[in-house]
Amino acid sequence: MKIKITETVLRDANQSLVATRMPFSDFEGVLEALDKAGYHSLECWGGATFDSCLRYLNEDPWERLRKIKNKVKKTPLQMLLRGQNLLGYRHYPDDVVRKFVACSVDNGMDIFRIFDALNDFRNIRVAVDEVLKRKAHAQGCICYTISPIHNIEMYVKMGKELESMGVNSICIKDMAGIMGPQEAYDLVKALKETVKLPVFLHTHSTTGLGPITYIKAVEAGCDGIDCAISSFGGGTSQPPTETLNYALKQIGYETGLDEKVLKEINDYFRPIKQKAISTGLMDSFVMGTETDALVYQIPGGMLSNLIAQLKAQNAIDRLEEVLEETPRVRKDLGYPPLVTPMSQMVGVQAVSNVLSGERYKNVSKEVKAYLKGEYGRPPGEINPDLMKKVLGDEKPITTRFADTLEPVFEKTKEQLKGIARSDEDVLSYIAFPQIAEKFFKEREEREALKVTYSIVKI
Ligand code: CO
Repeated sequence: MKIKITETVLRDANQSLVATRMPFSDFEGVLEALDKAGYHSLECWGGATFDSCLRYLNEDPWERLRKIKNKVKKTPLQMLLRGQNLLGYRHYPDDVVRKFVACSVDNGMDIFRIFDALNDFRNIRVAVDEVLKRKAHAQGCICYTISPIHNIEMYVKMGKELESMGVNSICIKDMAGIMGPQEAYDLVKALKETVKLPVFLHTHSTTGLGPITYIKAVEAGCDGIDCAISSFGGGTSQPPTETLNYALKQIGYETGLDEKVLKEINDYFRPIKQKAISTGLMDSFVMGTETDALVYQIPGGMLSNLIAQLKAQNAIDRLEEVLEETPRVRKDLGYPPLVTPMSQMVGVQAVSNVLSGERYKNVSKEVKAYLKGEYGRPPGEINPDLMKKVLGDEKPITTRFADTLEPVFEKTKEQLKGIARSDEDVLSYIAFPQIAEKFFKEREEREALKVTYSIVKI
């Protein structure tokens, strides 16, 4: 049997280890090798890459995608899409979601892994529909979390719902790396017995469970796993590609991967990792094993964020209290999975509850919007006292929030006449207005400079 391996070095490994700061020029030279290795797919876009390209790297994310496609001709390209949130942190109207998917396909995207932080699938329906319409591959996600209300039955129900939506495959997304081998075995088995679709598992090495969890998942019938080439694997990134390739082959599975090419890829990335370490971009924290996440059940990325927040407020001595408060906040909010944007919301609220000396004395506008139902249906019941305190007599909405949003694409395109050069530019602007505007301006300046330079040269 063949196990499909997705390489994440350009997206999730990049995001988990170096805060998505790897510029295109760093990996341009290895794209052909990545294409030759025999991967099922190459995850290279989405998540934070779009934001980071515009904000920090002065790169047009769309151009990056086209340049990757130009060199990676046979391996399907894969992206992570936050459902109705696209690559941002709020819900966009349906016309923007459809246009974004259409442009992504036009620019070379093949596989769309789509999730909603609350597993409220009303928020991924439009994206899935558009992906299928464009003849691309729609992979629906189940965000995995552990709580008193989450169980296999609930996840299997989600799997059925995704299947009836028409997705091509299902991904179990364990963003925190807290899924143990037995849980993986039971969950994959139950899903495979219920749905006819291929099942993929995504985890992180954060707690050290990753590789063991993958092996048990495969034994239960899992069709594909996510790995990162070893110099960018392990720690808060994915389990290492070569290690899993070696282990899987030893127990009798095929992977289709070419070891020689894998070595070539790893040799290429090793000095890039060294550079990231020496400039401080890659911290020792993300490279090690963080078993605290098993105790607190919170993702490694969120843990480092909490530490950073407390340090910034000179309150690192309150960490223990914040770690005790975090699960209480999560319970009050109906046990949302701790993935973007819920991980940020819960973390900020827990810090505020501890430092202000009174629980929910300050409530962020995001948490308020969440209580109003604007992010979707919470998995469990929200604490009624909290609801009363924040919303008073106001009733939360029960419909899909995007149904209340007016179309904005054409209007924005009109407004950006002379500034945006393409529909892709308009989408960048809708996603991150200030940053995109700054990027467009700097692009003009750079190009003007180039023209002057070439005239002088003549
Ligand atoms: Co991930």
